[in-house]
Amino acid sequence: TKVVADTGELAAIETFKPQDATTNPSLILKAIQSGQYDHLLEEFSPATTDVEDFIDKLGVEIGDTILKLVPGYVSTEVNARLSFDTEQTLAKARKLIELYEAKGHSRDRILIKIASTWEGIQAARVLEKEGIHCNLTLLFCMEQAQACADANVTLISPFVGRILDWYKKETGETYTGETDPGVVSVREIYQRYKTHGYQTIVMGASFRNKDEILALAGCDRLTISPALLTELAESDDTVKPALSMPAEVLPPRAEISESE
Ligand code: E4P
Repeated sequence: TKVVADTGELAAIETFKPQDATTNPSLILKAIQSGQYDHLLEEFSPATTDVEDFIDKLGVEIGDTILKLVPGYVSTEVNARLSFDTEQTLAKARKLIELYEAKGHSRDRILIKIASTWEGIQAARVLEKEGIHCNLTLLFCMEQAQACADANVTLISPFVGRILDWYKKETGETYTGETDPGVVSVREIYQRYKTHGYQTIVMGASFRNKDEILALAGCDRLTISPALLTELAESDDTVKPALSMPAEVLPPRAEISESE
């Protein structure tokens, strides 16, 4: 498993030296509010009076800082408001990549993070053909995972904790790592991907406790908050592979076209 830091906190990235980093608007806002990007805010004054354009450019400045700290991918999220609009998602992703390339970054290390709605997945399908890599997030079920594999996206982020949150609220029950419905969901998706030999990277996300992480050890990537990374580092738990590769790899299933 490659460890990914789910944070915009620069100190945490420096401490844990993850392979990749993922951010989302609330994590970035948290990091900005804690003063970590004050230097950027002082130095950075783009020639724009358009608030959305300002946020895009500031996001790229932050991404640029994080790209210098990790060797792998940095995921940068498009506004959730665009989740049901393929054309606007395409326009935003292309604009962000253009801004990163203008700063001298290769598009190969940037993942455009897009919600796994039907419209988002269709945007990702087009972007991947342009060499713009995508991280399909807010992914809760096999149907979304299958559509992402069919669209040949670079990476999916199946969520764990938000599934657990929902089950806990609805049933009032408690769950262990093994019975955690979020863990079960990611394991099933991982098994299906590996069984069919899909190249899309599976990165478990949205963790609520370290047992969920241990129960998914062996997944391609896991994106983990600094709080849980600290807890793991301080615990005596032995990390044992919890996921296995299938004995036989089946051909990818024939894709169902939109008209069917
Ligand atoms: C990662 O890519 C996600 O943004 C993150 O793990 C979501 O976690 P949350 O459910 O705690 O918001």
